[in-house]
Amino acid sequence: MFGASAHLYDLIYAAVGKDYAAESADLHRVIEARHPGGRTLLDVACGTGGHLRHLQAFYEVTGVDIDPAMLAEAARALPGVTLVEQDMRTLDIGGRFDAVVCLFSSIGYLSGLDELEAAVRAMAAHLTDGGVLVVDGWVRPDAWVEGGKLTVDSAADDTMTVVRMGRSRRVGRVTVLEMHHLVGNDAGIEHIVEHHRLTLFEPDQYVAAMAGAGLAVETLPGPMPGRDRYVGVKRARS
Ligand SMILES: C[S@@+](CC[C@H](N)C(=O)[O-])C[C@H]1O[C@@H](n2cnc3c(N)ncnc32)[C@H](O)[C@@H]1O
Repeated sequence: MFGASAHLYDLIYAAVGKDYAAESADLHRVIEARHPGGRTLLDVACGTGGHLRHLQAFYEVTGVDIDPAMLAEAARALPGVTLVEQDMRTLDIGGRFDAVVCLFSSIGYLSGLDELEAAVRAMAAHLTDGGVLVVDGWVRPDAWVEGGKLTVDSAADDTMTVVRMGRSRRVGRVTVLEMHHLVGNDAGIEHIVEHHRLTLFEPDQYVAAMAGAGLAVETLPGPMPGRDRYVGVKRARS
């Protein structure tokens, strides 16, 4: 998925101004308002650990991702943090957390309703009673802009210069993001191409998956335009 570009991920998102510190502080406020004093947090699809680097100021954190290259980047930035290579659809790391989060639309990588329900059920099963699940959805179908959008971003550090051009298109419920990276350094210029496929789930499908997993659900505006945040609280067993 991000196997060939994991080493470019942090450089590019820093250059485009993604503010993991502010997003993490906001996320902490959302969790704290619903479960004051929560101590432990699991980030599912943590990627390179952009949020975990900041969330560890508030919580004892654990990360999970399916992609070993992304986890290797996370491990470099998060010494001592437990990072587990697992698929969110079959998540089972054998612990309970006061908060479980799945951010930056990672849930969109699931390819159908069965997978969405399985992943949400598995994430909810890792919550303590009263614990909070936060899922940041992919673009709402009604907010998707048709017509093959092109984006161009560039970034550089002491070792390389990267230009990323992306083109997105929709095929039914599936959006395909075609990403071309030109990576230049002393050795030459490399061209890396990736295709990311994300599903346009409906808001009521996220809500139903979370309610079906035993959570009381709210919908909030997400950190990115056209994307919602779904927050579920696990009801205490009576
Ligand atoms: C857009 S990145 C977001 C990473 C990180 N949460 C962030 O905010 O930077 C999407 C991440 O989802 C992960 N991912 C996709 N499908 C997954 C799955 N089935 N189980 C676990 N992780 C998955 C990818 O490997 C990637 O790291």
